[in-house]
Amino acid sequence: MAAIETQQLAREFEGGIKAVDGVDLAVDAGEIYGFLGPNGAGKTTTVRMLTTLLQPTGGRAQVAGFDVASEAGEVRRKIGVALQEAALDPLMTGRELIQLQATLHGLARERGNELGDALLGRVGLTQAADRRVGTYSGGMRRRLDLAAALVHEPSVLFLDEPTTGLDPVSRQAIWEEVSKLNAEGTTVFLTTQYLEEADRLADRVGIIASGRIVAEGTPAALKADVGKPHLELSLADQNGNEARCTEVLARFGKPLPSKDGKLLVELEHGTSEVGPIVVALNEEGLAVESLDLVQPTLDDVFVAKTGEHLEGSEAAEQEPVAG
Ligand SMILES: Nc1ncnc2c1ncn2[C@@H]1O[C@H](COP(=O)(O)OP(=O)(O)O)[C@@H](O)[C@H]1O
Ligand SMILES: [Mg+2]
Repeated sequence: MAAIETQQLAREFEGGIKAVDGVDLAVDAGEIYGFLGPNGAGKTTTVRMLTTLLQPTGGRAQVAGFDVASEAGEVRRKIGVALQEAALDPLMTGRELIQLQATLHGLARERGNELGDALLGRVGLTQAADRRVGTYSGGMRRRLDLAAALVHEPSVLFLDEPTTGLDPVSRQAIWEEVSKLNAEGTTVFLTTQYLEEADRLADRVGIIASGRIVAEGTPAALKADVGKPHLELSLADQNGNEARCTEVLARFGKPLPSKDGKLLVELEHGTSEVGPIVVALNEEGLAVESLDLVQPTLDDVFVAKTGEHLEGSEAAEQEPVAG
């Protein structure tokens, strides 16, 4: 059964802003689906509709088999949500917050306490459980959010930019927890601006720009779609040897124009061809000095589909900064 299905889902805001503009999704139970796009693309609006917090103005959506508009109560019982801008009361402790969630979901006090302790341990907040949330770091708040979303053991978990603004260590901790939850059977719908996050976690990725899905598939398939990996290589003694080297490389793939004194060749398959190339060059007496296998990235996909770089991608970070 599909965990999430939408047909031409749309949300228009006052003033005619089409935040979500006809989105078709089909997320299988057990999948991690990455919803990747820049700021303002429509990610949060989509999540808010899928989690019954906002009414669609067009199309339909079913989550865990229930319609988000006409069966909102059933949907809510099946889902967990950690929103981008979660409003955590800074005066409450982590433990109190989790227990409040448990109460809201109708768990008996004892069961709520047990589960709360287990969840706080799970996200590494046992030590901090009795501190006020106001003293938590960004990473700790996100982990508490995640724990709070898990209180009623949801089958579908929605995470809206769970790691935006976090340091690499906190980001890693969230990634590990999401992977674990998914391995235990939870379907995860995760929005992100980070290519690396989508690439690392998601079974499939939908790229959203201006309210529309512009590309969808496994990270590998999306990348393969825009281009093949290529090898960049320099020889220990390049002088006069370039032509012979290019000849050897041409046996393995299409030679590309050289760049910064490096010789480039496009490869059909990538990694598995690197060894044979080095061997073939050695047999010709050509010693390799440096060698880089360059894989296309999800940013390349985004650029190919929209003409723009994603924020958070290496290429975007290299853009000159004004002033
Ligand atoms: N309540 C609202 N009223 C008017 N416009 C909104 C509202 N919420 C979001 N938008 C607009 O809808 C678009 C998509 O926003 P959002 O879904 O938050 O994007 P994302 O989460 O991908 O950054 C943006 O142009 C945003 O300004
Ligand atoms: Mg958002």
